[in-house]
Amino acid sequence: MCGIIAYNGQDDAVPYLLEGIRNLEYRGYDSFGCALDSKVGIIIKKDIGKVDDVINKYKVQNLSSNKAIFHTRWATHGGVKTENAHPMIDCTHRIAVAHNGIIENWAELKESLGGHKFISDTDTEVLSHLIEEKLNKGADIQTAVKDTFKQIKGSSSFIVLDKQSEDLVAVKKGSPLVLGIAKNGNFLSSDVPSFVRHTNKVVYLSDGDMVVLGKKSYSITNLINKDVKHEVSTVNFSAKHAEKGDYEHFMIKEIMEQLGLMKNLESTDFKDVIQAAALVKNAKLVYLIGAGTSYHAAMLGAKALRENGINAVAVQGQDLITYRKVISADDVFIIISQSGETADIINVLPLMSKNKKIGIINSDGSTLAKEVDVFIPIGAGPEKAVASTKSFTLSGVYSTLIAMFAAGRNEDAIHDLKLMNMNMYNLLVPSVLSAIDKAAEKIKGLENVFFLGRDSDYIMALEGALKLKEVSYIHAEAIDAATFKHGPLALISDKVYAVAIVSESNRNDTLYNLQEVKARGGNIIGISDKNENVFDMFIRTQEGGSFGFVMQSIILQLLAYKTSILKGINPDRPKNLAKSVTVK
Ligand code: M6R
Repeated sequence: MCGIIAYNGQDDAVPYLLEGIRNLEYRGYDSFGCALDSKVGIIIKKDIGKVDDVINKYKVQNLSSNKAIFHTRWATHGGVKTENAHPMIDCTHRIAVAHNGIIENWAELKESLGGHKFISDTDTEVLSHLIEEKLNKGADIQTAVKDTFKQIKGSSSFIVLDKQSEDLVAVKKGSPLVLGIAKNGNFLSSDVPSFVRHTNKVVYLSDGDMVVLGKKSYSITNLINKDVKHEVSTVNFSAKHAEKGDYEHFMIKEIMEQLGLMKNLESTDFKDVIQAAALVKNAKLVYLIGAGTSYHAAMLGAKALRENGINAVAVQGQDLITYRKVISADDVFIIISQSGETADIINVLPLMSKNKKIGIINSDGSTLAKEVDVFIPIGAGPEKAVASTKSFTLSGVYSTLIAMFAAGRNEDAIHDLKLMNMNMYNLLVPSVLSAIDKAAEKIKGLENVFFLGRDSDYIMALEGALKLKEVSYIHAEAIDAATFKHGPLALISDKVYAVAIVSESNRNDTLYNLQEVKARGGNIIGISDKNENVFDMFIRTQEGGSFGFVMQSIILQLLAYKTSILKGINPDRPKNLAKSVTVK
């Protein structure tokens, strides 16, 4: 989705914002644009294509300004063309606006702006003209922005540069916006890692906040709820965490980080998990809500809760609407999200308004993190590759821990965590890495791959298939091995490859199903802790008790990563995808 970063201060904004906007590229985009305040008026440079290409084409690195906004656009409303790139200006070139979100009532607003010259097809452009309209009637910039904000419907965060004002003015609703307070100036951005090299002091803005960002100071007023507090938080990660270091891609860095992150769990006090467990223990039904990969983590959690005697169901955010007549006040919600900004979940928050909510969320200060009663930070640190890896395994672990703690099985949980970490040392040994390479070599030329498993192995099959699709563009379909006989078996021939995930608890049944595939000529890449006759290729995983899925997951992530590399795809930025999906 779009990325915005702005700076107002005593230093030259351009180097900060060049670095910042490159750090926001992971969000997904198709165009880049910037607006810089200058003595001769507002300078706008924008075009479609890669950030660095546009920057070099317009020599943005040679410009300088103390007050500027940089933006990456991910097209939602209006095609990918230069005129649709942000920032948008008004008819008089007095202001420039960069926006992240969707203005739902743009058509009627545009209708009311007869006489204004629109140059783009975007919904965003109504903002610059609405503000202009108010400025023309004598309003100051803050009043003009405030009144415009009140007119628009939907989720929209935007920043306005006014050449007649010392300040930048911004508002937040729905889409993320964070304030960074640095020594010589202040930042506004879609995320913290984009400016964390310059400050770790941040204010996580709330919906309805209007920020007036001066060169030395700032003020925040909430336009919806005046009681909102705006505390300055200190972030506990450094720029190093948001950089690739010696790794070629963020995806591989983030996959490998899991080993250390899982080990760190052993020294956690789990206070928030204990609180969450107390809530779910008394729930009539526990709903676990997520999207994409986070939905798969929700499935792991729901299964763990049921196995520990607690009634639970995993639901994809957008599907919660179908439960609206059955949700009762005694139900508890567990929301799982890396970004904390996923629209499919934010949109259904009203359905949970009377319920206790637990959040397993990676982004502190995000919209969803602010909405929950018990916040369990995933603690994965910045996850910049589009494909979620470390957030997934940690969310799966946290949701399983809630289930085990709720059943009073705290000691079993700690035992299994230790078992997983102990066996993790044997996971990525050279023979396993070379087996993954061989499997990737095979998969890279295929058009379709099946992922099979039963029970929790089926959840891993779903996740493995999603990872492969995202980063290798190969069609991958997960099927519960038990259901293969109900239809999909018709597809099997000697050209077909299936990745089968086999755990001890399902071994016999899954092997029985795999024989059916084998008997029809199918080829099987087995992921298991034991080699089996039915496997044509074998990747060994390790025993991890209740957390064995972490190791299966790391193997599946590596398989997807390696296939992507063999196909010459940049796994960090798959085409058409955005890291945080803030649209319906
Ligand atoms: O930020 P969230 O965890 O709420 O995001 C949900 C999905 O958009 C996300 O998991 C997506 O499926 C990933 N790209 C998968 O790798």
